[in-house]
Parts: sequence; structure tokens; C-alpha cells
Amino acid sequence: MLHTILRQSTKCRSTFLTMAARPMSTQRPPTAVLLTNMGGPETLDDVHDFLLNLFTDRDIMKLPFQPAIAKWIAKRRTPSIREQYDSIGGGSPILKWTRKQGQAMEKLLDELSPETAPHKHYIAFRYVKPFTQHALEEMKADGVERAVVFTQYPQYSCSTTGSSMNELQRGIVANGMENVKWSVIDRWPTHPGFIEAMTTKVERKLAEYTPEQRKDAIILFSAHSLPMSVINRGDTYPAEVASSVDHVMKRLGNQYPYRLIWQSQVGPQPWLGPQTADVVKNYGEAGKKNLVVVPIAFTSDHIETLFELDQEYAEEAEKAGITGWKRAEALNDDPIFTKAMATIVHEHLQSGQVVSRQYYLRCPGCTFDSCGTTRNFFKSYDPQQ
Ligand code: FES
Repeated sequence: MLHTILRQSTKCRSTFLTMAARPMSTQRPPTAVLLTNMGGPETLDDVHDFLLNLFTDRDIMKLPFQPAIAKWIAKRRTPSIREQYDSIGGGSPILKWTRKQGQAMEKLLDELSPETAPHKHYIAFRYVKPFTQHALEEMKADGVERAVVFTQYPQYSCSTTGSSMNELQRGIVANGMENVKWSVIDRWPTHPGFIEAMTTKVERKLAEYTPEQRKDAIILFSAHSLPMSVINRGDTYPAEVASSVDHVMKRLGNQYPYRLIWQSQVGPQPWLGPQTADVVKNYGEAGKKNLVVVPIAFTSDHIETLFELDQEYAEEAEKAGITGWKRAEALNDDPIFTKAMATIVHEHLQSGQVVSRQYYLRCPGCTFDSCGTTRNFFKSYDPQQ
């Protein structure tokens, strides 16, 4: 209660008046905004368990003897991944950025939507702390009655948002929280606020070139790749990433040539390409000099931006003779982006939507029972179904 009262003191005048008019005993619990993401190891010591949890996730892959195989892969990959995290300061900044984003978003939301204030963000990571269970316990302690799940992946994939939702559904049932009014923002690839935030980052980078260099600039939108087995199952991710790219390019007036490329492939299986490393090498050999790489599917800095784009691929670019390699900044706590986050949640609260229409349609090649269970669970909240 003290926490709630303290939070009220920071709100805008209109919200304060709304809340002050309400007797203390009837002050409502916060509207929860649950930010979901895979997460990343915060320290080098977290790297092994992060990998182990990732490879144990049976919502994204089913392997024979999975616990043993996951253990083996995690052990084998930990040293090299630790080195990568070491080179970016000793851990992933994703928790730091998610907290900052959440705090800025909840303040703006209180102003935008006093009728659902106070708002409070919670964080549920899939493979590192704070896990879904931690978030649910905190929400339970706060007496939450209305919760919006807000994926921090603008473009939906069953490997990211889908897995988090399956985990959340199990957590809700295990914690007896079915009585909370749940709804989900499961994708937002073309939301105008997101597109504006992303476009601004690209424009700022392009502005660093001389007019002569800008004439020759190429924009490379680089997103995390997926194994072709996931793509061929019917995952919507490539189409949604492409739609984000299309919207950013339209806002830029379609003035620059561009490509959508894919990074972070691992292992011997075929992955969606072209691979970022190959593209950099090939364009370098073709004499291209000015490449702006845009992390279109990430909302904050982590290993894919700070290590892969800034170190690994930047080095490749230098070797290939690319003198004008630039990376658009991640959205992090950019005010345009945090405003977009608040607007997305506000619009969702007003819409009355439980999940997107697209979410109910499972991948044509889906064989995971958990995907069906989760969809049926959210359908039970949906008067439209
Ligand atoms: Fe896409 Fe199950 S894998 S719905």
C-alpha cells in the first residue's frame, strides 16, 4: 500500500486528482504490464545456465534425450559465449534497458490512461532471471486484477514470443492466477510509434555521412535468423520483419537501396539467409563503401548489436574495405520509443482485444501441444471467440 501511495505522488496532476478523489480503502491495484523477452545473461556466471535453459526449452525444439544434449551443448558453447559477453562489458544490458523502458512507459501510461492507472511494469524473461515465476509472484503480491502481456519482440515468432506465452500460460495455472483479466500484445511490427523510433535512428546515422557518401549509402536491415525448419513450419517472423522494413523505408521516402539480411546463425543446420557476414564481405568486394546496418528486430542493445554488429561484422567490413560502416543505435530508452510503448499499451487497453487475430492461427506445421493449450487458454478470456 505504501508503495502505491508513493507512486501516486509522482503522477500528473489529472491522475493525482482522479486518485485523490478515491477513498484510500478502495484504491485499486496496479494495471500490470508484463514485459516478456528471452533475456540475456547479466553476468558471465549466468552464461552457462542461460544456454542450458535455452536448449532445454521444449516449446522451441524437441530433441531425443534433450536434457543430456542441452547440458552437453551448453557446456561446450559456454567458454566462447562468455568471451563474447566479456567483450561487451561482462554481461547483457537487456535487464537494465527493459527496466528503464518499463519505468518510462508506466509514467507515460498513467498520464495517457488515468482511468486504468496506476500502471506497473513487471519483467518475465524466458531463460534468465527474472523468470516468469518471479513476475507472477510479484503481481500476486500486488493484488493485480488486470494484466497486459507485452512482448518485447515487435515481430512475432513461435521461437520467442510463442515460447514466452506457453511458459506464461503454465505459470498462470500453476499459480492459480486465472482470475486475473489477461490480454496480450503479441506483435506490433508496423506500429507507427515503433516505425517512427526506428526511422529516426536510421536518419541520424545517415546524417553522419557527407552528402557525397549518402548518395552511395546502402541500408542493411539485420534481424536474428531462424533455422529453416522453423520457417518451413510456417512461422510468421520473416514476413513481419519484412513489413517493419517496408514501413521504415516508406518513411525514409524510399530514397536508399536496402536489403533485409539475417544474423546469428549457429550449427550445421540451414538457416534463413542471406547471412549478414556474407553480405558484408560480398558488398565489400563489390566496392560498396557506405553501409548502415539497422537492428530492426531488437528493441535494446545486447550481444547481437554490441558484439556481432559492432565487433564481429564491423571487423569483417573493415577487412572488406568498407570505410563507411555504421550501426543505427538500438532503441533502448529513447523517448520516442518509450512513448511508442505507452501508446501501444494504451491503444490495446482501449481496444478490448485479448490477443491478435493472427495469434489464434497456429503454424501449419506445428506439432507442439503447448501451442494449442495456450491458444485455448486465451480464447477462454475472449468474448469474440
Ligand atoms: Fe507455431 Fe506452434 S510452432 S504455433
